[in-house]
Amino acid sequence: MKTQLSFAPLSQVKTELLAVLAADTQTDKAPDAKPQPVLLTADAAVKAAAAAVLASGEFKAGANETILLHAPAGLAAKRLLIVGLGKQAKVTANSLRSAAGTAVRFIKPRGIRELVFALPELETLTATGCTSAAVEGAFVGEFDPDTYRSERKDQSVESFTLAAPAGADKAALEAAFAEGVILGESQNFARALVNEPGNKLTPTLLGQRAALMAAEVGLGWEVHSTEKLRELKMGAFWSVAQGSAEPPALIVLRYEPKGVTGGPILGLVGKGITFDSGGISIKPSDKMEEMKTDMAGGAAMLGAMRAIALLKPKVRVIAVICAAENMPSGTAQKPGDVQTAMPFSPDKPGKTIEIINTDAEGRLVLADGLTYARQLGATHLIDAATLTGACVVALGHVNAGAFSNDDEAWAKFDAGLAISGEKFWRMPLGEEYAEMIKSDIGDIKNTGGRWGGAITAAEFLKVFVEDTPWIHLDIAGLAWAEDSKPYIAKGPSGVAVRSILEWVRKYGS
Ligand code: BES
Ligand code: MN
Ligand code: ZN
Repeated sequence: MKTQLSFAPLSQVKTELLAVLAADTQTDKAPDAKPQPVLLTADAAVKAAAAAVLASGEFKAGANETILLHAPAGLAAKRLLIVGLGKQAKVTANSLRSAAGTAVRFIKPRGIRELVFALPELETLTATGCTSAAVEGAFVGEFDPDTYRSERKDQSVESFTLAAPAGADKAALEAAFAEGVILGESQNFARALVNEPGNKLTPTLLGQRAALMAAEVGLGWEVHSTEKLRELKMGAFWSVAQGSAEPPALIVLRYEPKGVTGGPILGLVGKGITFDSGGISIKPSDKMEEMKTDMAGGAAMLGAMRAIALLKPKVRVIAVICAAENMPSGTAQKPGDVQTAMPFSPDKPGKTIEIINTDAEGRLVLADGLTYARQLGATHLIDAATLTGACVVALGHVNAGAFSNDDEAWAKFDAGLAISGEKFWRMPLGEEYAEMIKSDIGDIKNTGGRWGGAITAAEFLKVFVEDTPWIHLDIAGLAWAEDSKPYIAKGPSGVAVRSILEWVRKYGS
């Protein structure tokens, strides 16, 4: 999708479709209070063209509501699309993100290939914030998951133009525009990976995709396999990989900004299970195909690293993604097996893990990934994983789960959520939960029973971060959207890319 900024008067833009925004200014909360939609533009000709439909009551300016006018009088545009933002008092840059996605997804199935999207004029929003959010939303909206259809129904949108209001600061808007492109494309990068089926994205191929991206954006990278796992004594990671004919991939990306030598080193650790059959504790066949998305945490870290490389915050970041396939076979690990996790220092023994359920494999690969990130110098850790069904039971598909052993790191993450627009809900940790994963035969076991499953999984990871400030994101319920929305296709969501990026930026913007 080609994108550009325009500073021409709206009524004069020649385009297949001009999209403008409207908000509901009704403040009376009485149930019979009629919506009062107003157009968020100062352009008199556009206002005149939309006046009749706004007065008709047919369009309420609800969030992502649309109405289309053909051959609007007095405008050079062939069509005028009005997109609602909802109640004006509640409009944020996040509303802009979805409105731009809605406009793009409106034209896609209709064979319209280009549009001009007018930035709103609203005192409560900054023009730069709107610009970045709208461009990002346009890219996110443009993505469709039907990549393997022989004849794709939805062709791509060729051109997206953002029309700036009169008097806008050109240089500032251009910078915000460029940022929006990076944010949108980085999320789509992660989404495209999550969308890939297990046979098209093995751990090796995920490593190749990561390396290609890293080289493109100027990140340092290494992709290791079985031999390195042996060398590092990654017994927990290997215990998952050992059952598959596909070798594992240990993906390491490094972002080292020029001139930054001291300060924190942020460690981003991702679960990269390219397919989770459950292993010997095999999953039921119903919906098992969804387990191709079990590398969404790793994909989120790759998407975030791409954005970091291009936006250049002043803080060092390393990413460790543990990619493997969880399969049942004659070489697969068995319930009851005892594995030894990677030791933090070569002279100390690694923790021993009793395998109760081979389907609790995410925490096993992450255990060694977290230890390795610390060994590489990470002073602060964040991990993302489609870790537990229990987290989906607790929070549904609305909030993702979050855990932290450090209020300061958490405060930074939490503050970033207002910017990313993503929903994470902090859940508790505690000694009583840690008790639930003590093993009779070794140090810990890999499941803690039925109750509080998301929490005992987090407690398992906590054993391996030791005292390092750490945040754990359980994105099992949000990585894949079951339903499409006006602004985003159903399928891979790209969740966590934005929030991880905002957290990183808090350490060095
Ligand atoms: N990848 C799954 C978790 C999952 C479930 C992700 C649903 C997305 C949607 C994970 O590896 C898993 O199988 N977890 C088990 C843990 C249990 C055996 C303790 C689970 O949640 O059932
Ligand atoms: Mn599993
Ligand atoms: Zn899994």
